[in-house]
Amino acid sequence: MIRKLIPTAALAALSVLTTLEPVSAQQSRRGPIDALQSVFGVAPDPTAPGRVLLATEYGLLRAAPDGFAEVLPQVSMAVVGLAPVPGGDAGRLLLSGFVENGEPGGILRSEDGGRSWTVLPGTGGRDGVAVTSLSVSRADPDRVAGLAEEIMLSSDGGTTWARAGQTPKDTLAVAMSGTRAERIYAGTMTGLRISDDGGRSWAEVPVTQNPVTAVASLSGGRVGAFVYGTGFMVADEAGSEWTTVATGFEDRYLRAMVEAPGGTIYGVADTGAILLGRDGGASWISFEGSDLATPERIAAGKALYAETCQTCHGVGGIGESPDNPTAQDEFGFKAPALNNDMHAWHHSDAGMRATIREGSPRNERMIAWKEKLTDQQIDSIIAYLKSTWSIRSLACQGSRHMRCN
Ligand code: HEC
Repeated sequence: MIRKLIPTAALAALSVLTTLEPVSAQQSRRGPIDALQSVFGVAPDPTAPGRVLLATEYGLLRAAPDGFAEVLPQVSMAVVGLAPVPGGDAGRLLLSGFVENGEPGGILRSEDGGRSWTVLPGTGGRDGVAVTSLSVSRADPDRVAGLAEEIMLSSDGGTTWARAGQTPKDTLAVAMSGTRAERIYAGTMTGLRISDDGGRSWAEVPVTQNPVTAVASLSGGRVGAFVYGTGFMVADEAGSEWTTVATGFEDRYLRAMVEAPGGTIYGVADTGAILLGRDGGASWISFEGSDLATPERIAAGKALYAETCQTCHGVGGIGESPDNPTAQDEFGFKAPALNNDMHAWHHSDAGMRATIREGSPRNERMIAWKEKLTDQQIDSIIAYLKSTWSIRSLACQGSRHMRCN
């Protein structure tokens, strides 16, 4: 089952090739991010706080918390790996991908936060390199790891690459250690592996037998791993104690993670959703609306909800007469639950906003609230309602819910 759920990174990269629409001029340049399926990596956008860059089948995208993303035309390939280069200049990034004919597009480097990119010499073309799960060491930024069919390593910043001496069976993700240049982590179908000799040999990390779908070095000498069925776990690299920091992902999982300079952890869910781990990854929210998900806005939204919505949608959004499934109003409806219980999370933020602003064409009781509430107030209510949803629901929000059955 899980084997079907989690394609190996190599397979995932190949499936891109079969589904890749030409990244061409007629490609829609802007679209809702909940429509994206194959998101392989995320990096904080160094040029715009609160935004992210996404590695996708459509190319390199810049996404904003309003739920929309634009294709950055400078990179015309399917991007399967994306990584910030730690230390020094915050605008430094690496990416990797495939061009339209299916050949490696090589390793590209940006010095200006993703505005312009250059292909590292010799990395493109038929004999070139295309890796997913791209990761740059915090201990030595010249050391880069990535995953093709095998673990690939570079010790000159991504220009020349060699296969690791060994790749553990069924490797799903790879990450350079944050503290030791020779240390590499590999997430596999049967747990976490560690190499302390630059990928020549590997040992089991006794933390789980479950699939480890993403690994990332974190600030402060820590390492984070996403364990399918458990959640987000963290360890001090110097010790061996692993702590489960967040659960609640249920059957969903993260396939890539990166920590931003401020400490926020960005994760890519298997559904393509971008999730944001705050408080060291203890609480996860969706990237969409993350700018509004402050304690103040949520508290304001909660108060507004109690004043204006609660009479119909119930305390905390449990819905109208939740104990009576057949209850109906004069239009044949009842006010649905807006918390996690029903399918409020099948709507994108933009969809919820539209319903609340314009009302329901089918039901006069759900009026157009734009007459009574400002856009800011409506956004606060949405932030509050989303704060009642599970991480799984956030990973499945909007049109992604179709991929969550
Ligand atoms: C007088 C009763 C009433 C009040 C007050 C009310 N609603 Fe509704 N709301 C409804 C009904 C009934 C529906 C179902 C309409 C339909 O299915 O067409 C609904 C539907 C919705 C939906 C769509 C839910 C879905 O899953 O499709 C949202 C979102 C919503 N309301 C939000 C709000 C918010 C936010 C407020 C407060 C600002 C509010 N409503 C106030 C009665 C109400």
